[in-house]
Amino acid sequence: MHVFTSTEGQDAAAHEQVVFCQDQQTGLKAIIGIYSTALGPALGGTRFYPYASEEDALRDVLDLSRGMAYKNALAGLDHGGGKAVIWGDPQRVKTEPLLRAYGRFVQSLGGRYYTACDVGTYVADMDVVARETRYVTGRSREHGGAGDSSILTAFGVFQGMRAAAEHTWGSPTLAGRRVGVAGLGKVGKVLVRHLLDDGAKVVATDVNESAVAFVRQTHPQVDIVPDTTTLITSDIDVYAPCALGGALDDDTVPILRAKVVAGGANNQLAHPGIEKLLADRGVLYAPDYVVNAGGVIQVADEIEGFNFERAKLRASRIYETTRDILRLADTDGVPPAVAADHLAERRMAEVGRLRSIYLG
Ligand SMILES: NC(=O)c1ccc[n+]([C@@H]2O[C@H](COP(=O)([O-])OP(=O)(O)OC[C@H]3O[C@@H](n4cnc5c(N)ncnc54)[C@H](O)[C@@H]3O)[C@@H](O)[C@H]2O)c1
Repeated sequence: MHVFTSTEGQDAAAHEQVVFCQDQQTGLKAIIGIYSTALGPALGGTRFYPYASEEDALRDVLDLSRGMAYKNALAGLDHGGGKAVIWGDPQRVKTEPLLRAYGRFVQSLGGRYYTACDVGTYVADMDVVARETRYVTGRSREHGGAGDSSILTAFGVFQGMRAAAEHTWGSPTLAGRRVGVAGLGKVGKVLVRHLLDDGAKVVATDVNESAVAFVRQTHPQVDIVPDTTTLITSDIDVYAPCALGGALDDDTVPILRAKVVAGGANNQLAHPGIEKLLADRGVLYAPDYVVNAGGVIQVADEIEGFNFERAKLRASRIYETTRDILRLADTDGVPPAVAADHLAERRMAEVGRLRSIYLG
């Protein structure tokens, strides 16, 4: 079944469909993973990345597509979970023909999978993909798209953080709290603005000098620290990971000073068991895929004909969803990450089951 090289040993058993796509002329090598369509067509972005091996690309698409099923379920969307990876260095191999070849493979799935932007793909790329398929979101506003999804991602993270603040300190505001933001990219810099508007003090870091320079210029009141270790060991109430995955691991959790973790990054828990380590240390973790769903809410809205206010209203409900999950976690005596998984699985099962009712 695999066209690139052997991938024996990979477990795709839980996924509905995994499609390998190849076009030798353009150099396209893509894998589309559909974890579940129980709630509707799968929705998730396309990651364009120079994986070391086909195994790495396959592992990533399997993990990411599964994660999207959970994220979309708790975001209240009528979408299942899917994701795609294009294996290659986008700086070197991304071309119009390659993106269009990819678009044709997306189209060939007949709407079982809708794509969007992810690491290595941008709004302009989705406009190109859209020339071959109608099953694409994250296009530019000029092409009827929702544009940059990080606007509502940051807004949603802020809503989830408010719920975590209420759960911890009794009031849904960050006013007077010190929040540490690691990563001042598309999501992090917008989150900083929401936090300052709410009356929080912000301390931040980024490895990229231009990202730091932008925040220094726009928000001179933000304290910049040299690195993430300095950030998480400083006197902060909330830690907001907004850079890459794996921010919470066996080294970072023991030295965290924050009482709350809520941030935009995907896959913050480095491995299973970290959620328990956080709970044992008395750190409240607002599950990443719950609080960072604003972006997928934004692009899902595009399928109906994008309306920013409608999408924003839906993203604002991340506050209630996070609050309910934190309460459920307390009631059930489990970490919030476990409570979130249970709720997502319940919605997929209960709403997904309705499709078994025969429509004449
Ligand atoms: N953009 C979205 O709509 C969206 C939606 C959901 C989740 N996410 C996730 O949020 C995170 C941020 O996304 P983004 O769109 O802002 O990406 P981005 O690339 O614009 O920003 C990431 C920033 O993190 C910085 N960074 C990288 N390594 C770092 C380190 N070790 N310490 C400090 N800073 C570091 C980078 O320099 C960059 O400025 C990612 O994990 C992404 O998967 C984004």
